Amino acid sequence: MKHLLSTADLSRADAVDLLDVAEEMSRATAREVKKLPVLRGLTVVNLFFEDSTRTRISFEAAAKRLSADVINFSAKGSSVSKGESLQDTAQTLSAMGADGVVIRHGGSGAPHRLASAGWIDAPVVNAGDGTHEHPTQALLDAFTLRRVLAGLPASGPATGAEGRALDGATVGIVGDVLHSRVARSNVHLLTTLGARVVLIAPPTLLPVGVSAWPCEVSYDFDEALAAHDFSAVMMLRVQQERMHAAFFPTAREYARRWGMTDARAAALGPDCAIMHPGPMNRGFEISAAAADSSRAVVLDQVANGVSVRMAVLYRLLTGQGSGAAASTAQTA
Ligand code: CP
Repeated sequence: MKHLLSTADLSRADAVDLLDVAEEMSRATAREVKKLPVLRGLTVVNLFFEDSTRTRISFEAAAKRLSADVINFSAKGSSVSKGESLQDTAQTLSAMGADGVVIRHGGSGAPHRLASAGWIDAPVVNAGDGTHEHPTQALLDAFTLRRVLAGLPASGPATGAEGRALDGATVGIVGDVLHSRVARSNVHLLTTLGARVVLIAPPTLLPVGVSAWPCEVSYDFDEALAAHDFSAVMMLRVQQERMHAAFFPTAREYARRWGMTDARAAALGPDCAIMHPGPMNRGFEISAAAADSSRAVVLDQVANGVSVRMAVLYRLLTGQGSGAAASTAQTA
């Protein structure tokens, strides 16, 4: 694996291996030695052309916990405002030394362009591109779900999840699928790992061609909740910034018909987790009570993002597998 651009590129073995490496990272950084020396002397460039809290900070934390040097680039305040292109920005940062590049960009396909154009000679990690993909979000979601299914703590150090996939799980992904790179990456990855995925959304918030995706589709949240024994229900952020004012449904109708209300949260099966990639629109796609309930694993997802991103950077920048990570972690 040279780059991580799409979860569609991951085999089941690749995905399980990354999740297993992330488990090792979680255990290693929970011990008294917080930093592993495996990327010492290497530089990770975080190239963010779109806003981010979780992804940007957790990639920085992940790189630092692996002892890498980190250069953070934000398009705001940079020469992008003077018209500098992606090519020139990437080549400028590459000239300063980049052993790995993490990129978030509003244009779907920008990470693929960076990886294939020959502008830089370093692994590229897609940290979210337009409405296309967000592969490390899907990996951290799968990591969290795997813990939940195994009856383990949803985050923090644990043993017992290694080698597992998600066979037998049914996951509902609810809401603004049309604009969601999280949904696309999760449909690929969760099904690769053996889970059954049900997309639940208003017809206007589903992409053209969704019938060809490897999942089921429902327009009615309550019908879907009655029909399936969900292991987890993943609420998507409604991306109002990508919609126009006359969009159907209205905010009020959306919250009533497709939101995780208090009543829907209370009616979920006893083992069903509530997930959300963040940032949340409380009171819109998810009620405050549901977001703060004991079945919500939203903050566990955030915590797991650091371990998963450590695993991705480790695999891409060293090309070594989980056995090497384990021995390095033990000797750190
Ligand atoms: N889930 C996610 O990508 O959040 P940020 O936009 O804060 O990175």
